[in-house]
Amino acid sequence: MKTQVAIIGGGPSGLLLARLLQTRGIESVVLERKTKAYVLGRIRAGVLEQGLVSLMEQAGCADRLHAEGIAHDGTLISYGDEMFRVNFTEHTGKPVMVYGQTEVTRDLYGGLEQSSAQIVFNAEDVVIHNAHTDKPHVTYVVDGKPNRINCEFVAGCDGFHGVSRQTIPIEVRREYEKVYPFGWLGILSETPPVNHELIYANSPRGFALCSMRNENLSRYYIQCSLNDKPENWSDDAFWHELKRRIPTDQADKLVTGPSIEKSIAPLRSFVTEPMRWGRLFLCGDAAHIVPPTGAKGLNTAASDVHYLFNGLRDYYENQSTNGIDKYSEKALARVWKAERFSWWFSSLMHSYPDQSEFDLKMQIAELEFLRSNRAAQQAMAENYVGLPY
Ligand code: APR
Ligand code: PHB
Repeated sequence: MKTQVAIIGGGPSGLLLARLLQTRGIESVVLERKTKAYVLGRIRAGVLEQGLVSLMEQAGCADRLHAEGIAHDGTLISYGDEMFRVNFTEHTGKPVMVYGQTEVTRDLYGGLEQSSAQIVFNAEDVVIHNAHTDKPHVTYVVDGKPNRINCEFVAGCDGFHGVSRQTIPIEVRREYEKVYPFGWLGILSETPPVNHELIYANSPRGFALCSMRNENLSRYYIQCSLNDKPENWSDDAFWHELKRRIPTDQADKLVTGPSIEKSIAPLRSFVTEPMRWGRLFLCGDAAHIVPPTGAKGLNTAASDVHYLFNGLRDYYENQSTNGIDKYSEKALARVWKAERFSWWFSSLMHSYPDQSEFDLKMQIAELEFLRSNRAAQQAMAENYVGLPY
C-alpha cells in the first residue's frame, strides 16, 4: 500500500489529523491497534477549548457538538467555606464547550467513514522504518498477515504507550516527567449535575471535581491514594466522600444514583523533546501528558494537530517545508504553557501526603489571591479557555 501520510493511532489526535488532511485532498491511512468499540469505550475529560471547536468545524464534524455541547462561561472554585467564580467570557470573551471526548472521537469516526477514509483496526506490531530518510515506511500485522505502507510522512498519534516516541533514538530524545503522589477516582452517573457549572474543590480531605456530560449525565472525581482500587469504593462510599469535600449547600442538593463507570487514573506531567525526528512527527499523548486538572489533554493534542496539519498543507500545497521544519518548536512552546497551567492548577487544588503547615498556608494564600484579584482571575481564565495557537 502507498499513501502520503501514515497515521499511527486512531485516538482523537490521529482521527482529527486524518480528517483535516482529507478536507485538503491529502491522503492518509490510520493504523489503530484496537477495535473502534474499544476506542469509543474509553471515558476521558469533556471540556473543549474554542481552538478545538474550530478545528472540528474545519474538519466538518462539529454539527452534533454545536447541537449538544454546553457552553460554560465560567467555573467555580471552592476551599474551606469559600466558593468563588472565575468568569471566562468577561475576562477573555470566550466560553469553553462541555462535550465528552468520547463524543469528539465518535464524530470524527463518523466524518472519516462517510468519506471512505482508510482506517485499519487491529493493526498489531506496528514498526516505523527509515523515519529519518525521505522514504519512510510502516509495517504491521492484521489477522496474522504482514502488511507494508510506503509513505512520505509518519504522524505518531499513538498515545503514551505507543511505538512512535520509542522510534526516536534515545540519544536524540530528552524526557521530562513529574509523577504526583495521588490519583483521581472518577464515576459517571445518570443523574443531573449538581450545578450548571463545574466545581473544583480543595478540601482538607482532598480534591474533588463536579463535572458533567449533559443534563442527565454527571462526572464526579475525588482525589484518592495511588494504592486505591475502584472495587474498594462502593457507590455509597464515593457519594459520601464527595459530599464531605464540596460546599454544604452543594452537597445538600447533590442527586446520587448508581455509577455506570468507575475508574482510577494516576496523575502525571510528561514531555518529550523534540516532537519531530526526520519525517516522523509526534502528536498528542505520544509526546506529552498533563494531569487532568483543567482538562488540557485533548486540547493540547488538538494544538499539535493544528500545527502539523498546517505544516503538511503548506508542504503539499505550496511546496514549503517551513511549517514542518518549525513543527516541534511551535508545538512545544504551547505544550509547555499547558503543562505549566495543569501543574499549577493541580498543585493548588490537591492535598499532598507530605504537605507541611507552611505549604498548606501557601495554598490557601494563593486561593485567597485568586478569589480576590482580577488579574489572577484573568490569567486563570486565559489559560482555562486556551492560549492562542
Ligand atoms: N499501533 C497502533 N495504534 C496504537 C499503538 C500502536 N503501537 N499504540 C497505541 N495505539 C492507539 C491506541 O489504541 C489509541 O487508540 O493509539 C491511540 C492513541 O489515542 P489516545 O491515547 O487517546 O491519544 P491521543 O489521540 O493523542 O489523544 C489525546 O486523548 O487520550 C486522551 O488524555 C488524552 O485527552 C488526551 C487525548
Ligand atoms: C471531566 O469532565 O471529565 C473533566 C472536566 C474538567 C477537568 C477534568 C475532567 O478539569
